[in-house]
Amino acid sequence: MKRILTGLQPSGELTIGSLIGGISQTIKYQDEYESFIFVPDLHAITVPQDAKLLHERIKKNVALYIASGVNPEKNTIYIQSDNLYHTNLAWILECNTYMGEASRMTQFKDKSSKFKNIPVGLFTYPILMASDILLYDADYVPVGIDQKQHVELARDIAIRFNGKYGDTFKIPEPLIPKTGAKIMDLQDPTKKMSKSETNPKGIIYLLDDEKTIRKKIMSAVTDSEAKVCYDPEKKPGISNLLTIYAYFKKVTIEESEKEFIGKNYGEFKTKVADIVVEELLKIQEKYNEIMKDNQIDIILNKGKEITTEIAKKKYEEVVKKIGLGR
Ligand code: AMP
Ligand code: TRP
Repeated sequence: MKRILTGLQPSGELTIGSLIGGISQTIKYQDEYESFIFVPDLHAITVPQDAKLLHERIKKNVALYIASGVNPEKNTIYIQSDNLYHTNLAWILECNTYMGEASRMTQFKDKSSKFKNIPVGLFTYPILMASDILLYDADYVPVGIDQKQHVELARDIAIRFNGKYGDTFKIPEPLIPKTGAKIMDLQDPTKKMSKSETNPKGIIYLLDDEKTIRKKIMSAVTDSEAKVCYDPEKKPGISNLLTIYAYFKKVTIEESEKEFIGKNYGEFKTKVADIVVEELLKIQEKYNEIMKDNQIDIILNKGKEITTEIAKKKYEEVVKKIGLGR
């Protein structure tokens, strides 16, 4: 079975956009591949983080992923900073990466332009990412298009290392998901629902309570036509609600459209709210159960144990090949 490896950034509170666009992909992959899922907390600190918030989010997000259907029996789930080999191998890879290559990373150019004093870690971050991937001989790395260049750097580093020291690393391939549903902001349906947006009125968080969810959906921006049909160009608000409804109801958009022929927007929104509430409350119930006892620690300890053993073996092979140590 081919192995995939994904990193879930512990940034921001998870939304129904993260669920529909991101988590659902991860759930799909767990049946096709042996999957390694980790929280790249060491990557998160390349930009300033509030220590308390960061710490809370790490477990919270893992629990939400599991509550949403990421099966801890089928996936190896772990925390990056729990495994010291990630940074150890990263150093060695840094010594085998050229300034020219690292300087080409467009994400660094974007992110660094926001700083007066740029953290060095922000520059070397893609090399730590290469280490995350190469330690585990991952076949595929599912990432958004913005991360493709980083996976390509990991490939270049691996190819060069193998050429110099003999076959050591598997050459990973990026796996860019076919563009799935994009969930839009309820208050401005022309822009993506984003967890970094500051106005929470347009965003449904996975942990919102029933009253809040209903209120946000009932006040979602629509249009004045009073006809429920799918037309993202002319009717972005209604189309977005139809997409959300279809996802949670597990039907197609066409089927959802049919269901609401002749219904007014109030009735339609109430039905959307009903299904979102029903499904999110199920996730929240599981989430509370997972957070209540020490299940999450058991899962993460198991992940730490499995991945440390694999990483140690790979690291020791590298150390030997390049002549380090005794
Ligand atoms: P994020 O939760 O923003 O870190 O994103 C995790 C995954 O969910 C990525 O693959 C994103 O592309 C996807 N995602 C986040 N927000 C949305 C959205 N509003 N609609 C669709 N996909 C999204
Ligand atoms: N850089 C990725 C992001 O910002 C997260 C990440 C870190 C990652 N290491 C990884 C993703 C290894 C895939 C594989 O989303």
